[in-house]
Amino acid sequence: MHITLRQLRVFEAVARHLSYTKASQELHLSQPAVSMQVRQLEDDVGIPLFEKLGKKTELTEAGRELFNYSRSINRSLLELEEVMQALKGVSRGGLHLAVASTVNYFAPRLLAVFHQRYPGIAPRLDVTNREALIRLLENNSIDLALMGFPPTEVEVESEAFMPNPLVVIAPPTHPLVGQPDIALTRLAQETFVMRETGSGTRLAMERFFKEQGMPIRHGMQMTRNEAVKQAVRSGLGLSVVSLHTIELELETGRLKILDVAGFPLLRQWHLVYRRAKRLSPAARAFRDFVVQEAAQIAGPGPLPTVDTTPLANERDSRT
Ligand code: PGA
Repeated sequence: MHITLRQLRVFEAVARHLSYTKASQELHLSQPAVSMQVRQLEDDVGIPLFEKLGKKTELTEAGRELFNYSRSINRSLLELEEVMQALKGVSRGGLHLAVASTVNYFAPRLLAVFHQRYPGIAPRLDVTNREALIRLLENNSIDLALMGFPPTEVEVESEAFMPNPLVVIAPPTHPLVGQPDIALTRLAQETFVMRETGSGTRLAMERFFKEQGMPIRHGMQMTRNEAVKQAVRSGLGLSVVSLHTIELELETGRLKILDVAGFPLLRQWHLVYRRAKRLSPAARAFRDFVVQEAAQIAGPGPLPTVDTTPLANERDSRT
């Protein structure tokens, strides 16, 4: 069978009206053109689809079967047309985002506001480290990435959208807590809890210490910011983390920022996508939203001033 969509559309109209005249009016075709389409369709399926009962046109059994199918095909075609139209606008559509693990501390806040504005867009969010993000960009399997510095391994477009200060953290009982202007060289005596190789935070931290000609002592390695923070709290060493990751710990005083010369390292978050990629309307809407509003919605805020007050429960436990 070589049924064409055009034949089905004509057949569907004739079957619905049970009239060649009405179908031809609806389709803005001549009546002979409509009859010809139906005849070709009948030839194609090999069975008559209509029969004449007196002056009336009726469907045969095969015609009724085909009518069922043609109606559902027509419905699907209409739906398809609607979806394509909607995709041309930003009201609907998928959006595949991938963010660096540290971005996860603020990405949900951004998505909540974005979702309110575009409820028809269904974003999918992958959270992974920098190296994995680069692979996703390489494979062209995501629309947009939010990460630290843009990769050089893949040709990308990138836009900085928000500051990402990196700070040195310590448990509240550490002797350096509360000291002003700690010399960088003083850190040589400390052990650092490290993020995994492939983490952007780790890369930035290592670059910085290398540039300063300052070797640091690596302690345990952890693949999650959460684990790093717990390790620091438990006295396993100091660490360098994004200010975004310690909002709650600073509020509760469970971690402290050390006032080390050269810190905070001022980095930027970037929105990144492959060069020459045609962004969907949904992806474009998200890009514009992030570049224009992310800093306001999820900015890291000012660095807390160094304070020397120990935690209430720690004061109690020492007395
Ligand atoms: P990450 O953060 O350490 O979670 O990979 C990305 C970055 O800071 O570049």
